[in-house]
Parts: sequence; structure tokens; C-alpha cells
Amino acid sequence: MNVEEGHLPVMVEEVMAALSPVPGSFQIDATVGGGGHALRVLEAATPGGRLLGLDADRAAIARARRRLAAYGDAVVLRRANFEQLADVAPAAGFEAVDGVLFDLGLSSHQLADEQRAFSFRAEGPLDMRFDVSRGVPASALIASLDERELADLFRRFGEEPNARRIARAVTQRRREAPIETGRRLAQVVSDAAPKRPGRPTRIHPATRVFQALRIAVNRELEVLPKALDAAVALLRPDGRLCVISYHSLEDRIVKRFVAAERRGCVCPPEVPVCVCGRAPRLAPVGPQPQRPTDVEVERNPRSRSARLRVARRLAA
Ligand SMILES: C[S@@+](CC[C@H](N)C(=O)[O-])C[C@H]1O[C@@H](n2cnc3c(N)ncnc32)[C@H](O)[C@@H]1O
Repeated sequence: MNVEEGHLPVMVEEVMAALSPVPGSFQIDATVGGGGHALRVLEAATPGGRLLGLDADRAAIARARRRLAAYGDAVVLRRANFEQLADVAPAAGFEAVDGVLFDLGLSSHQLADEQRAFSFRAEGPLDMRFDVSRGVPASALIASLDERELADLFRRFGEEPNARRIARAVTQRRREAPIETGRRLAQVVSDAAPKRPGRPTRIHPATRVFQALRIAVNRELEVLPKALDAAVALLRPDGRLCVISYHSLEDRIVKRFVAAERRGCVCPPEVPVCVCGRAPRLAPVGPQPQRPTDVEVERNPRSRSARLRVARRLAA
């Protein structure tokens, strides 16, 4: 595996079956990352088709540009947050498309990036932003939030059962020295987590805290509904929406979004006749959600938590 291929695209066969890109079709990869899914989509959508790839991370766009270079003008890449999809896509010539893919979360390249400390092992600054030109780094939250706010963040975005205990440890230990690297935060959290002798946990004790901070600094749960709404508006009738998520908070948003778009009407039950006029825009396709096969999980452990939801755009 060379550096460009260092991130294996997750559930790529399932995504290809769902999108079924044909030559001449227009596709959007809203999280192009290392370009793994995009490469497969372009193979099928060309000749004649085009792909718009977005990523908030400058390094990801540079990597995708190298990897997809052979497709020339068929590929348009933009460094942008997908919350800007409704503006970025038409401006790039993608007013109506046949498929939109979101492969949420972070790539193996980002996980290995010492300078942003997405991982517990990183000695680099605790940053965790996909786009380092916007917002504040995770170290600023760790340094400035009070104990109650930290506990709330770990609970809401990490579903961390020991949120208060960990928040207390963070505020105590940061008085001794600032918590500025991934490795130090991981140490503070694992020192605070209750020990269960003889019961080794499957995940690192800091997993949920790291997830919570990443969600907070990237406003992950806030930008997703807006982007899903924009994606549906861009889809042609029968076009496909594919979303891969890696934690339950994100998957819940996708699940509720598809359910609401399937229902259409948002009138309260006591209103006898629909007055909102909202028609259903999506129909779910296949099992909700699809999970990776055991073979894939064995080959690529990062796919373990993946859930794929697919929906079809209904005619307006
Ligand atoms: C799991 S990786 C995608 C990997 C890609 N499918 C591949 O096969 O190489 C997720 C990517 O989404 C990007 N990302 C996450 N949230 C984003 C957002 N709100 N807007 C744009 N890009 C985002 C991350 O920077 C990361 O590169």
C-alpha cells in the first residue's frame, strides 16, 4: 500500500451498488478524503460523467488532487465544509446530480497526523480540527471550559458514563500543567477512568472523550442536517443519497432525517388536513442500516463501527 492509498475506503462495494454510477452521471463526494470512494465512482461515471469532491481539510484536497489527476476535467475539488454544499455545488456546475456520498468522520491520514492529535498516541498539539483555519483547537476547550461544561461536553458528544469524574480530573491536572497533547489528555483520562481488574475494555478509556472533543471543535452534529438537506435538494429524481457514519449520534441524525423526508408532512397530528404542503422527498433503499461484512472488518478494523444508510430521491 503506498501513501496515497493509506486510507482504505469503507463499504466501497456497498456504496458502489447503491450509487450505481453510470457513464455520464454527475456525482458528489462531500467528504472526498484520500479519494478512495471517488476513484471508484469516477471509474464508473466516466466517460462523460463528473465528480465534485469536497473536504474541509486542505491536506485531503491536495491528496485527492494527486490521486484523481488522471480524470482531468471530470473532477472538480473544493476545500469547503459540506455545510456550504448548497452554494458550492451550483457554483462548481453541479446543479442537479445523480448521487451524493457522505463518508463521515476522519481518515486514517488524519488519525496519523501528529500535528492535530486526533489520536491518543499523538505527541503533537491537541487540535482535532478538520479545517485548521476555522474555529478553535481542542486544547482551547480543555483549557477554558469549567468542570461542569467539560462534563456536559463529554456526556453529550461522547456519551461518556464517567463524564463528571473525567472533567474533575482534567480541571485538577491542568492546574499542574496545561493539557496540550493527545498523549497527555489520554493519560489524564485513563488515570481518572474507574479500573475494572480482570475486565479489559475493548476500546481505549479515552475514546469517548476524544470523540466528544472532535465533534465539538468541528461542530459535527450541527453541520450534518444542513448538508443532508442541501444534498437532497441537489438530487435528481431517483438519485441516491449514501451516508456512512461511525458513531451513534451521527447515525441517529441520518436515520431521523431519512424518516422525516420519507414522511414529508410536518403538520401536528391534531391538524385534520395537511397545511404544510411538504411532500416526501426520500425513500429508504435496502437494510437500514447496512453494516460491513466480517471479511471487511477483519481486513480493515476501522470499518468496524460503520453504518451505511441509502435513500432514493422521489420525484418532486
Ligand atoms: C472518512 S474520511 C473520507 C475518506 C474517503 N471516503 C476516502 O475514501 O478516502 C472523512 C473526510 O471527511 C472530511 N470531513 C469531515 N467533516 C467534514 C465537513 N463538515 N465538511 C467537509 N469535509 C469534512 C474529513 O476531513 C475527512 O477527510
